[in-house]
Amino acid sequence: MKILNIVGARPNFMKMAPIVEALDQYPDRFTHLLVHTGQHYDARMSQAFFEDLGMPRPDINLEVGSGSHAEQTARIMMAFEKVCLEQRPDLVIVVGDVNSTIACTLTAKKLGIAVAHVEAGLRSRDMNMPEEINRLCTDVLCDLLFTTDKFANENLLAEGVAPEKIHFVGNVMIDTLLKHRELAAGLPLLDELGLAPRSYALMTLHRPANVDDRETFKAILEALHEIARQIPIIFPIHPRTRKMAGQFGLGHFFNEGDKVEGLWLSEPLGYLEFLHLNMNARMVLTDSGGLQEETTVLGVPCLTLRPNTERPITCTQGTNQLVGNDREKILDAANKVLANDMPKGRIPEKWDGKAAKRIAEILAKYQEGEV
Ligand code: UD1
Repeated sequence: MKILNIVGARPNFMKMAPIVEALDQYPDRFTHLLVHTGQHYDARMSQAFFEDLGMPRPDINLEVGSGSHAEQTARIMMAFEKVCLEQRPDLVIVVGDVNSTIACTLTAKKLGIAVAHVEAGLRSRDMNMPEEINRLCTDVLCDLLFTTDKFANENLLAEGVAPEKIHFVGNVMIDTLLKHRELAAGLPLLDELGLAPRSYALMTLHRPANVDDRETFKAILEALHEIARQIPIIFPIHPRTRKMAGQFGLGHFFNEGDKVEGLWLSEPLGYLEFLHLNMNARMVLTDSGGLQEETTVLGVPCLTLRPNTERPITCTQGTNQLVGNDREKILDAANKVLANDMPKGRIPEKWDGKAAKRIAEILAKYQEGEV
């Protein structure tokens, strides 16, 4: 069976790495090529992850770059259609919920090629999120739906997806985390920064809902400065966030002197460095999807600066709390964590480092016509 594995944006790389490795265990059964759409292209948003994860270089790079949603999606589709026609794959594997995910799914399905979606069935029920549109459209088209938890299965079944298409396999991103945990723990980063474990918070921010509206963005930055008076905050800045801060005249919050009132700013970090900071943090403040899951597994308190999540299991079982983007609510929640009032959490079922192995086993059965 010939497979095209698709990656495009930063959160895709750590999901695809274990799948590539698991497929390699079946050399007589699968041949596979790695296709990078080029949605993310900066070395720190892309290449650094291939190096950290030991992932093979992409066999094909579509080099589409940034653009509006329509432009980016359309460019991926046009370039990927040519690849599909040339390569004639039996299956395309997509992960996550970024524009590359839906663009490649739609292209392949229109050519009659089967598509498998890894991380299917997640729903925030917030149609203002571009990712929610990507998730819904991808799942409705896919032939095989690999899920991370039971909520995702319920969502798909409620939408009328045939039960035989749905496979609860666990979380591939956690496969990658568990594999690299020890290596990341041994990095000298905290020592170099002169920080003790649990003596700082870690922040990421990039959602359009938080950074594309000036007042919302400003309120979050004010809360951040307030928290930074109590505990240093390390804040690697996403390119979108930096760009919007410049456009909105909020650059003074990002004074490039690095240690501004406890705010330690940096460029986006590599996978291992970020994991090192994550596992040692007192708390994480974020609007990322994946970080909600990683903090749950690491047992680090997570404050999610969003009104909803497509990953509710991180709240019901893990260490995650939704705090929205209101200044006072963020401060209140951060103060509670600093006062040690925080959820303990446990690790969800099948987030055990074997999700990709389960996917490869199911694909082997799929090839035999058994699933
Ligand atoms: C994308 C995903 C989002 C994911 C995020 C992780 C979609 C709809 N969004 O958002 O789900 O959480 O990636 O990072 O697919 N830019 C650079 N260098 C890069 C990439 C982007 O400077 O390598 C800048 C450009 O100005 C670009 C902006 O960031 O316009 C946004 O990039 P884009 O890929 O459109 O979306 P993200 O915000 O990164």
